[in-house]
Amino acid sequence: MRDEAVREALQRAFADGSWGRYHGPHCDTLRQHLAELHATEFVSLCCSGTVAVELALRGVGVGQGDEVLLAGYDFGGNFRSIEAVGARPVLVDVDAENWNLAPRRLDEAWSPRVRAVIASHLHGGVVPMSEVVEFAERRGVAVVEDACQAPGATIEGRIAGTWGDVGVLSFGGSKLLSAGRGGALLTSHPEVRQRIKLFCERGNHAFPLSELQAAVLLPQLARLEQRNAARLAAARRILARVAKLPALGELVNRTQETSPGYFKLGLKYSAAALGGCPRESFIAAIQAEGVALDAGFRDFTRRSPKRCRHATSLEESRRAGQAMLVLHHPVLLESPEEVDRLGDALEKVVRVRRRRET
Ligand SMILES: Cc1ncc(COP(=O)(O)O)c(C=O)c1O
Repeated sequence: MRDEAVREALQRAFADGSWGRYHGPHCDTLRQHLAELHATEFVSLCCSGTVAVELALRGVGVGQGDEVLLAGYDFGGNFRSIEAVGARPVLVDVDAENWNLAPRRLDEAWSPRVRAVIASHLHGGVVPMSEVVEFAERRGVAVVEDACQAPGATIEGRIAGTWGDVGVLSFGGSKLLSAGRGGALLTSHPEVRQRIKLFCERGNHAFPLSELQAAVLLPQLARLEQRNAARLAAARRILARVAKLPALGELVNRTQETSPGYFKLGLKYSAAALGGCPRESFIAAIQAEGVALDAGFRDFTRRSPKRCRHATSLEESRRAGQAMLVLHHPVLLESPEEVDRLGDALEKVVRVRRRRET
């Protein structure tokens, strides 16, 4: 997306020479603005959301021999980050309605080795965080809230990334706040922040966000709330069309006072409703209409029990891995006419496929 404010920020960073400095005003300002937005005490900037998840685990003290709970359907890097700190992933099924982590399954998955839970808000779904926090407090487990896909989202009246002991944001290429690469950690626990700081400190920051990256993030952060509201309105417009299509379903959030984040808009695909049309053929047909629709993540349900503990049945995670569709976010900031064209394209492909069936 062309963003004049980003161009101006780049020009300013060039003119004042901050683009080439180790330290400068932009990272400090970004930390401050993120802290204000999230009403959190400490913000650490780093080079990616992936590294931020690993740092978050280190920050809450996860290490060798520990277990970490995560959804059976999640960003693949989160599974790897758990392994990277020497811990073992423990798979918990996702909710049947929104295909995000199901907190009611956490107790089943708990063991005395469990040190933390990663809760990721994915594809416009949200994890009911009050239930995760209730579980974590009762069991003495840390919460890492992965808000990489949902910066500025609200869950049960509270901004995403602030529910857990530590929250994680991504500024990767194509994200809602993008610097091509980058990430951030939010926490109000001084000991968490201290562990993160010590791990990153090698005479210099080992996983830094640059001044130039911070410079381009600042104007985007200033518009985040307004853009999230526009994305929400567009997502609702699309979902109203989807509701009429038997082959597609919405990820349904049951939490109150919730405004999800839409890095991707997830949809549930039903091959059965289209005479068994494989998801990949459906995606190809939609893409041919110029729509940026893709398959979701691969689920973890086939990962070897040597690598992870399958702690609950993982039926819904498997289903999510097979049937999740994700619509990339840029169209959500287009005009209502453009959004309606997308709705037309979905309807057209469903209609053509159904006709073929009969
Ligand atoms: C849920 C989730 N967590 C973490 C990440 C990692 O972010 P990054 O691409 O900045 O490493 C992603 C990236 O897509 C993600 O979707």
